[in-house]
Amino acid sequence: MTSRRSGRSYSGEEIDLQCVADLAFYALGTPDKGQRRCVPSGGGLYPLELYVVVARVEQLPAGLYHYDPRSHALCELGRADCLASVKKAVFIPEAVDNAAAVFVLTAVFGRSKIKYGERAYRFSLLEAGHVMQNICLAATALRLGVCPVGGFVDDEMNDLLDVDGVEEAVLYAALIGSLDTIGG
Ligand SMILES: Cc1cc2nc3c(=O)[nH]c(=O)nc-3n(C[C@H](O)[C@H](O)[C@H](O)COP(=O)(O)O)c2cc1C
Repeated sequence: MTSRRSGRSYSGEEIDLQCVADLAFYALGTPDKGQRRCVPSGGGLYPLELYVVVARVEQLPAGLYHYDPRSHALCELGRADCLASVKKAVFIPEAVDNAAAVFVLTAVFGRSKIKYGERAYRFSLLEAGHVMQNICLAATALRLGVCPVGGFVDDEMNDLLDVDGVEEAVLYAALIGSLDTIGG
């Protein structure tokens, strides 16, 4: 916890598929293959979804993936050069160039709205914070660089994921990459 830092300089080397699997698991995974997850969720309604833009991951073709917590699987959504789209959308494009993957969190607000009404928005944001902290701490433990990113053009990120920005909308992203020992 004390060595976690936001790192924006990556070496450009590939990272292991197992690292992506571990990060996804600690983000939204279900340890007992049931309803419970690694993060708390208001009412146990789990409004968040995780997408992974893959650029430099061993054994995993570049493209866009969706994480399915129940089967602990990444489902391929497309093989386009998504990193270029992320680079266009974020306000720190220079950090994206050498990233290995970008984890993108969205919320499907309706899942939480059923119980909490308008408070679902707050709860989704709070839950995203829990998830991001897990991603940051897990990445630190795996000796990977990680930077939480809230600065991006929402519409461009929503378009990339093909979500409407209303029922399901992007909240938060994390750049992940091999640590650049020179750049820090
Ligand atoms: C909600 C949130 C959004 C952030 N968005 C960005 C961002 O868009 N770009 C960026 O470079 N860093 C972003 N950061 C990282 C902060 O700049 C960083 O946490 C802060 O400078 C403290 O540094 P540290 O994380 O290394 O302790 C964000 C952090 C948080 C919590």
